[in-house]
Amino acid sequence: MKVTEIKDNIFWVGAIDWNIRDFHGYSTYKGTTYNAFLVKDEKIALFDTVKKTHVNDLLHHIKQLVDPTEIDYLIVNHVEMDHSGALPEIVERCKPEKIFCSKMGLKAINEHFHPEGWPLEAVENGSTISLGSKTVKFLETRMLHWPDSMFSYLQEDKLLISSDAFGQHLATSERFDDEVDFSELMEQTSKYYANILTLYSPLIRKLLAKVREMNLEIDMIAPDHGVIWRSHIGDVLQAYDNWSQNKGKRKALVIYDTMWQSTEAMAKAVTAGVSMTGVSVKLINLAMSHRSDVMTDVLNAKAVILGSSTLNNGLLPRMAGFLMYMRGLKPTNKIGAAFGSYGWSGEAVKLMNRSMEDMKFDIIEPGLRVKYVPGHSDLSECVEMGKRIGQAVIDSTEE
Ligand code: FEO
Repeated sequence: MKVTEIKDNIFWVGAIDWNIRDFHGYSTYKGTTYNAFLVKDEKIALFDTVKKTHVNDLLHHIKQLVDPTEIDYLIVNHVEMDHSGALPEIVERCKPEKIFCSKMGLKAINEHFHPEGWPLEAVENGSTISLGSKTVKFLETRMLHWPDSMFSYLQEDKLLISSDAFGQHLATSERFDDEVDFSELMEQTSKYYANILTLYSPLIRKLLAKVREMNLEIDMIAPDHGVIWRSHIGDVLQAYDNWSQNKGKRKALVIYDTMWQSTEAMAKAVTAGVSMTGVSVKLINLAMSHRSDVMTDVLNAKAVILGSSTLNNGLLPRMAGFLMYMRGLKPTNKIGAAFGSYGWSGEAVKLMNRSMEDMKFDIIEPGLRVKYVPGHSDLSECVEMGKRIGQAVIDSTEE
């Protein structure tokens, strides 16, 4: 891929991973990028590296600008392996004068690479280094999303290198937000937030407030994945603000798995009931949908209605797996309800309710259970439940 000058003497030198389809359990149908940035000043600095598998792409890009041995500083904003896997080879080739990272980054680098003789230097939150004409300010963003995470802000260029924040798993030949389809970009940005950042929403709210307080002038945000924001900065900041407040839209999801289509028939009837209230509703069969896509829908929905048949006194495995995934991401401020068919014991509804209680969902219905196959009156009850949930969504959202 071509090296791109994103600002005066600041270059994208990262790698495109066109083929990745699974990122530790997150489906990446559109591939991803590992962004790294080279700054040429009196000191030459490389911000982040790439996944180990892509080190040759990074080196090839760097060599179009400088000899790697000319790099003075490495800045490690985040130690997760998709950005640091190439670090040992880059350190070996560049022999940098300094490697800057956060205090927690120092620990994480030691625990990942067990380095000997690397010139590591932990920086304080808010501290600066000069590259000559350019000043880099380091902003600790602990637990966004790892303990070591930090941002680098290039003051004179008003450029925020934001590590994973504002990223998208999107492989493209284009480097900027205004060069790709906007709705695709926001879809991938929301999927990233839903599957990586949802549980850190309270910290994101604090971070956004802190950035506002600091009055940082930002005219470009360069995340470590996907395209660089230069034309839609306001849109992505607003989206993060909304998502971090868990403001659900006037939308409900009916998420289910089914053994002999009885729970599916209930799911369709609940969906019909919600739709009769005018609330937008989406029916999601877990057998056909990847959990990370379902979580993207959960991010924007107000009501999450779960259906599972009972299997061996428990849940169907796909629902159990989805619940474990969703609980880890801790979505909040949702209305919840459950339903399902059963043969003799019928624990599924109770188990789904318990899971949603743990997530502090507002469970507004005791749940509907139907023995074996739902008849007309059972389906009518499902429709009525859907209508009540739809009304609750209307009552608790602004349109
Ligand atoms: Fe893209 Fe947290 O790594």
